[in-house]
Amino acid sequence: TPRVFSGVQPTGNLHLGNYLGAIRKFVALQESHACLYCVVDLHAITAQLVQDDLPGQIRSITAAFLAAGIDPKKHIVFNQSRVSGHAELAWIFNCVARIGWMNRMTQFKEKAGKDRENASLGLLAYPSLMAADILLYRATHVPVGDDQKQHLELTRDIAAKFNFDFAERIEAAGLAVPITAGEESTEGYFPITEPLIEGPATRIMSLKDGAKKMSKSDPSDLSRINLTDDADAIARKIRKAKTDPDALPSELDGLKERPEADNLVGIFAALAERPKADVLAEYGGRQFSEFKPALADLAVGILAPISAEMRRYLADPSHIDAVLKDGAERAGAIADATMKDVKDIVGFLRD
Ligand code: TYM
Repeated sequence: TPRVFSGVQPTGNLHLGNYLGAIRKFVALQESHACLYCVVDLHAITAQLVQDDLPGQIRSITAAFLAAGIDPKKHIVFNQSRVSGHAELAWIFNCVARIGWMNRMTQFKEKAGKDRENASLGLLAYPSLMAADILLYRATHVPVGDDQKQHLELTRDIAAKFNFDFAERIEAAGLAVPITAGEESTEGYFPITEPLIEGPATRIMSLKDGAKKMSKSDPSDLSRINLTDDADAIARKIRKAKTDPDALPSELDGLKERPEADNLVGIFAALAERPKADVLAEYGGRQFSEFKPALADLAVGILAPISAEMRRYLADPSHIDAVLKDGAERAGAIADATMKDVKDIVGFLRD
């Protein structure tokens, strides 16, 4: 059966990129799949160990999940550190993955910066924990933004190497199941996960620089629309967003070499759930002074109810805390079954 897993880090402000690239897709997948949505608090300490108000950050991501429309009764919402299998399986994957694989990760290179020797070992091993998150539930589909693509390829590599290296033991333990990877089908224990990276919003860019992605860690608050921004802040940030002086083109081709225009049109298209070409057919030939207020209205119409709902959840976090506790129990039951199998495959004695 298809199973979806995805995670969001409880660091910094959730923004429009997180919403359009990930959370809104989480909501849509609930109709067709069994889903686990995780607040990845173990990942949150990889780049910076001591976090400001980590409990508050975890609750805030959970509030965003619920406010956006994730149903924690039908699906599973939890925080990662509560289910010990994540850390346990990550350790085993640290022994499956090669150092060279980790060194090639562009996100590691970016986050570690020049002083790589001084980055935490956890930051290097980050993708191995991410593979553990997904494979602990033997998830088949992972909705993410474009920036996570390389990490998901590594997850596939880890699953394939584990399946290959332990093939005989998996078979002998009767744990082999059919696995499909693209066209090929084989047998193994872990699925070869499909990334779900589709639509016009897989990579929302900074409002101040069309060459940088919108990010929680950008020092300029004007670079992003936070999920918790009020209507005035949203309108102001869109008004101040960088653009070129030309009118909007009427065809997609006209967005080439115009990264800021392309980004704003992409945001409009994603929010309106319309193709970009359709948006251009309507706004082609018009100035940004006309387009920006329309975009601001659209953004406020979608984000304001979500942020109001988030505030309502956060005013009394007891519901959020209960959701996370219940989610961890249900996730833990799936995780325990996987860890039993994995321990048998590797050869660890267990209860
Ligand atoms: P994180 O917390 O940085 O981001 C959460 C989700 O938002 C997407 N995203 C974007 N999408 C479009 N445009 C943007 N500018 C943008 N910025 C962020 C991200 O791609 C992501 O889907 N490593 C992950 C968390 C993680 C995870 C996992 C994800 C941990 N374990 C297992 C999937 C499966 C991360 O740091 O996401």
